[in-house]
Amino acid sequence: MAAPTIKLNNGQNMPLVGFGLWKVNNDTCADQVYNAIKTGYRLFDGACDYGNEVEAGQGVKRAIDEGLVKREDLFIVSKLWNSFHDKDKVMPICKKQLGDWGLDYFDLYIIHFPIALKYVDPSVRYPPGFFYEGDKIVLSKASLEETYHAMEECYEQGLIKSLGISNYVGSLVLDVERYAKHLPQTLQIEHHPYLVQQDLIDLCRSRGIAVTAYSSFGPSSFLELDMKRARDTPLLLEHPTIKSIADKHSKTPAQVLLRWSTQRGIAVIPKSNNQDRLAQNLDVCSFELAKDEVESISGLDKDLRFNSPTNYGIDIPIFA
Ligand SMILES: NC(=O)c1ccc[n+]([C@@H]2O[C@H](COP(=O)([O-])OP(=O)(O)OC[C@H]3O[C@@H](n4cnc5c(N)ncnc54)[C@H](OP(=O)(O)O)[C@@H]3O)[C@@H](O)[C@H]2O)c1
Repeated sequence: MAAPTIKLNNGQNMPLVGFGLWKVNNDTCADQVYNAIKTGYRLFDGACDYGNEVEAGQGVKRAIDEGLVKREDLFIVSKLWNSFHDKDKVMPICKKQLGDWGLDYFDLYIIHFPIALKYVDPSVRYPPGFFYEGDKIVLSKASLEETYHAMEECYEQGLIKSLGISNYVGSLVLDVERYAKHLPQTLQIEHHPYLVQQDLIDLCRSRGIAVTAYSSFGPSSFLELDMKRARDTPLLLEHPTIKSIADKHSKTPAQVLLRWSTQRGIAVIPKSNNQDRLAQNLDVCSFELAKDEVESISGLDKDLRFNSPTNYGIDIPIFA
């Protein structure tokens, strides 16, 4: 089983369902990626910051070597970390990340956060994380425009087939339009029934920018990090509204949460360290939610964001 695709504004096809690689352990990552390909996943959402690009690439290589897929069947996503926003750092780090994966190109390369941090040499620390040294945050002077133009050079040279942005608010989406030579193809945002952000989604839609939802299960992902806000929030996976809709369709709450996005044309990239759940998460385009079911799920909106730097004690309030 493979997921349907959506056409991006540059003509590339992107699978509507992919596998998210954040918090996938290094010792199991290669096998998980390989098994995910066997299960039918074609899109992998990686990042420098996840610290597992080498292992993810090993899983891809094994699948290609065994003839399960060809490179062109896959849609590999990676992200530019905050410490590499200076214009002269973007292409070198993109090439290093490609080398880690063992690839010639990324299908999509995304500015991970609209935050520019002072450069950390990969030989000193990789991935660098948020702190320059100790618990010190040091910003870089790079503007998002400077970084975006350097991304466009990667695009023009064929290192990346599509350009993405992530964690941008509406004003930044409008801004990128002012200076982009090539419009972004996708915006990746936190999106679940507790954080719907419909205005932002509508804005992207009006600009032909596809939206990818991350953390589709809301608090569950952040419980793994023992985040207080997640501990204090009722789980979406156990929410009575979600559970009753799931029962009606003989699906799991996770599948309903993912279908709520895919049915609205929003791509999803759930992460699971469990093979059964991984398979279940791919089967989220084969049933239809009724209009009133979609509306009642959207009605759970609380404007509640988990993945803000401030929720990790990092004083960079980009969503303020
Ligand atoms: N651009 C960004 O800033 C950004 C930020 C966050 C995430 N992301 C991307 O988005 C991906 C997904 O987001 P996420 O990792 O935060 O969280 P997620 O996919 O919403 O949730 C993962 C959590 O849900 C559990 N889970 C997965 N499938 C399940 C199922 N069918 N039933 C019950 N529980 C299930 C997982 O546990 P098990 O592993 O035990 O199954 C894990 O605890 C990431 O991996 C990453 O690629 C991007």
